[in-house]
Amino acid sequence: MTDAYRQLLDSTIHHLESLKARGSSFVGVEADTFASLSGPLAAAVPAVPSVKPAVVSLGARPEFTKPRLVAAPAVTPMASPAVSAAASILGVVPESLDEAMAQLREKASGCVRCPNLAAARKSVVFGVGDIRARLMFIGEAPGADEDAQAEPFVGPAGQLLTKIIAAMGLSRQTVYIANLLKCRPDTPGETGGNRKPTLDEMKTCSPYVLAQIELIKPKVIVALGGTAVEGLLGNFTGIMKLRGSWQTFRGIPVMPTHHPDFLLQALSEKRKVWEDMLKVLERLSLPVTEKQRGFFLPKE
Ligand code: URA
Repeated sequence: MTDAYRQLLDSTIHHLESLKARGSSFVGVEADTFASLSGPLAAAVPAVPSVKPAVVSLGARPEFTKPRLVAAPAVTPMASPAVSAAASILGVVPESLDEAMAQLREKASGCVRCPNLAAARKSVVFGVGDIRARLMFIGEAPGADEDAQAEPFVGPAGQLLTKIIAAMGLSRQTVYIANLLKCRPDTPGETGGNRKPTLDEMKTCSPYVLAQIELIKPKVIVALGGTAVEGLLGNFTGIMKLRGSWQTFRGIPVMPTHHPDFLLQALSEKRKVWEDMLKVLERLSLPVTEKQRGFFLPKE
């Protein structure tokens, strides 16, 4: 048994005993934590990377009030259950959600896990919006405008996304917007243009978006475009088939829809995207007016 594992075990036992002493008979364990505990030990506790125990108790948020003991490998494939991505990056996750997110942003800003992307980037594009949002939009990767302004979805596609969000009665400040990749995919030897992130890049960057999801705990995620769906859900069916049908990521409902960049080329598809957004509003029990219901319907 490694020292790190013994330390983890001791902390767990200590924590459970103190809960018991305070009268608790049961502990809440998240489904993915439970699954990893029931799996082979080697899978739950990696031999090489250091495993730091971390007590996660994030302030007043009811979901975070139960302390959770977490340990995770440094890089976690998104589609498979992990323990805590935030802990894998931060070690001990701060008590307050604001502090945890600030530290995560700080870590991301110095990330050089993909040396080629780190060398080419102007900025790390972490995310924008309300870290307590119930709705999170996830795209694929920053483009040139996002890289220049250090904010996701600010270029032409982003402006369309902002309009869609406004049509929903929401704003960039009341939702959270992030990408799977925090750095712009480099295009060596070319003067411009965008490149689709590779699966390896998405996997390497995944702890950041996973940690964002873990901390924000959105009630609904909108996955923007096929690449986001592939990276987040590991589902390669294709956005043409998947859009509009609810998927799940670690218990969170995910609505796959077209990427706004695609919409810019195919404005005839905007009603379909709008229907996806109506489903999102309904899922969140947000009000939908008759006028909103009729947006982008073909004129008779
Ligand atoms: N496309 C994306 O997927 N993300 C951005 O931030 C901008 C364009």
